[in-house]
Order: sequence, then C-alpha cells, then structure tokens
Amino acid sequence: MADSREESLIPTYNLCLLGFGNVNRALVRLLQRKEPELLQRDIACRVTGVATRRLGWLANASGMDISSLAGGNISATQSFNRAANVREWLGEAHADVLFEATSLDPHTGQPAIDHIRAALEMAAHAITANKGPIVHAYDELRSLAAAKGRRFLFEATVMDGAPIFSLFRDSLPAVYLRGFRGILNSTTNVILSSMEEGLDFKEALRKAQEIGVAETDPSHDIDGWDAAVKVAALVTVLMGVPIRLDQIKREGIGGLTGEVVRAARAAGKPYKLVCRVQRTGQGVAASVGPEQLPFSDPLAWVAGTSSVVYFETDIFPGLAITETNPGVETTAYGMLADFIRAVSG
Ligand SMILES: NC(=O)c1ccc[n+]([C@@H]2O[C@H](COP(=O)([O-])OP(=O)(O)OC[C@H]3O[C@@H](n4cnc5c(N)ncnc54)[C@H](OP(=O)(O)O)[C@@H]3O)[C@@H](O)[C@H]2O)c1
Repeated sequence: MADSREESLIPTYNLCLLGFGNVNRALVRLLQRKEPELLQRDIACRVTGVATRRLGWLANASGMDISSLAGGNISATQSFNRAANVREWLGEAHADVLFEATSLDPHTGQPAIDHIRAALEMAAHAITANKGPIVHAYDELRSLAAAKGRRFLFEATVMDGAPIFSLFRDSLPAVYLRGFRGILNSTTNVILSSMEEGLDFKEALRKAQEIGVAETDPSHDIDGWDAAVKVAALVTVLMGVPIRLDQIKREGIGGLTGEVVRAARAAGKPYKLVCRVQRTGQGVAASVGPEQLPFSDPLAWVAGTSSVVYFETDIFPGLAITETNPGVETTAYGMLADFIRAVSG
C-alpha cells in the first residue's frame, strides 16, 4: 500500500522497473519531468526496485536516486538489497506498481507473463510495454487483476502509447469493432521509404539500424512477426477473439527489391506492409503482408517511422489514429498514462 507524505497526505507509490532499457529509462525521465502534473493529481511516487538480466533484482524500499536513474545510471550512488527472485524483489521493494518493459518473446510471452502474474498476486498494479503477455495470457492476467482489485494495463504495446486500448475501453462503450487495417511496424515502413528514395534492401536496413529504429537482429520486423503480434494484441483485446500467431497469414518484406519498390511508387501504388483484420462469423481473418496501395488510400501516405490504424465499427464506419514520428518518450507516456489510470481508480 502506498505511504502518505506526512505534510500533504498525498499517497506516494512505490514503483518497480523490470527491464531498464530504452523504455523504462525514458519512463524515469518522464516521471521526473511530469512530477508537477502528477502532484496536481495527488500522485507522488518513488522508484524502489530495478531489475534486469544482468543487474539482478535490486530493491530499496526507501527509494532510489531518481536523478541518477534518469541518467541511466544504477550502481554509482545507489544503495540497495539484492533479491533472489521476482517475488522477493517485489516484497522487498514494497511494490505498488510494476512497470514491465523487458524484451519481447513473441512465441511464449515469457518470462514476462510470470513476472506480471507475480505482481498481481502480490496486489501490485501491472503495466507493460511488452506485447507477449497480451497475446499469450490476456484473459488469465485480466481475471487475476480483477480478482485482486488491481489493474493490468498495456497502452504502450501497440503504436507506442497512442491511445487505442483506452479509446475503446473508456470512450467507445458498446461500439462493435468489425475490423481494422493499418501500418503498425515502423522498421519496415522506414526501409520501404528508403528503398523508394533509391537504396537497395540491405542499404535501407543498415540505415534503419543506424538511426536506431531496427534491432541488430531485425528479423522480427522484416518477417512480419512484430506486426503480427500487434494484430494479435488488438484482435484479442478489442474484438474479444483469442487468436494464435499461426492463425495470422504472414509475409514479410524480404522478397521486395529496390527496383520493384521504386517501380510501384512511380506507378502511383507504393508498397506498404499492411495489417488487415475482418470478422468472419465467430472468428476473424487476419493477415500481415506487403501490398500496393493507391495514393487515394490514406495509408499510402504514412511514411518512415509513422504508423496508422483505421478501424471499421458499427457506429463509426471509419475511425483512424495516425501517429507521426513517435519516439521512445511516446511509449513511456503510454505507461505513465496507465499509471495515472491505475492509481486514480
Ligand atoms: N523501444 C520502443 O520504442 C518500444 C515501443 C513499444 C513497445 N516496446 C516494447 O517494450 C519492451 C522494452 O523495449 P526496450 O526498447 O526498452 O528494450 P531494451 O532497450 O532492449 O531493454 C530491455 C530490457 O529488458 C531486460 N530484460 C530482458 N529480458 C529480461 C529478463 N528475462 N529478465 C529481466 N530483465 C530482462 C534487459 O536487461 P539486460 O540488458 O540485462 O539483458 C533490458 O534492461 C519490449 O517488449 C518492446 O517490444 C518498445
């Protein structure tokens, strides 16, 4: 349970960061920057736990030095205990909220599922940027959160924190989602844009890696896995249809040459890696693959790191969310917004 600041009776929440890479570091910087806005909402917080594969499980229930954490520095000025496992860590840190931002395992969602389960069982809210737990354990974790009176939230998992899940949950009650299509993977979109500008596939991939968009091992993006996992997350949560990754027809962009991509654009129908979902009776037909889109289609204009999703519902025939040039701060914002939702009841 959160302590209260004696002078103001504002509750101070203990935050535990699991994974301390791009996303959770950006989150710490954002928590620091948005402290006045949080205080206006009667929310104070401190980081009491940080854990990664290499660092182990570090906890200090009195709070860690947020300025050095914001600089990405853990060990220099911190004092902490080392816990043996996730449960001991959450206990030593007196965790109120777990921010789970470890690497995605698209095929099992582990060990993130076990970590989120542990947090919820110990009555902490669980907030994740990791798509794996949604695709592989959404129903279980949602039910567990409800049973414990806590929140399991994941706005940062798709489109970097743009409000999608919260839009449907909070602002579109009783709307029936018939299907959607979109461009949900920025690495492939950057590569296709660079190929249109004259690079071949390998050069375009290298450029995407140089600007920090593509992973060192970019096969998850290139082969369409990342987009397929996002499709599975949206279908599972927004359409209420559990879907396995092998039920999504998937093709990557590895078969496209610079010549083919440039010819398509010159002919007025550029290639995009398009995600498509349509309801079919009780289920859905879902696919990810390269498609040529006419310039009359708004998706054809979404270039570089930008992304878009276009929903078809029973009330709104077309409702689109476009996100232009997101950065890691937007992902961190998705987690911050979830934190405010979770502790605001
Ligand atoms: N970057 C983005 O803009 C973005 C956007 C949306 C969603 N996401 C998702 O957010 C998550 C984090 O992304 P990121 O860019 O921050 O990744 P990252 O920079 O690679 O950092 C991953 C962190 O997770 C830790 N980690 C990995 N496996 C672990 C395990 N089994 N136990 C404990 N710690 C573990 C790593 O620790 P070690 O270094 O010690 O191994 C590292 O600190 C991913 O699931 C990603 O798909 C990222």
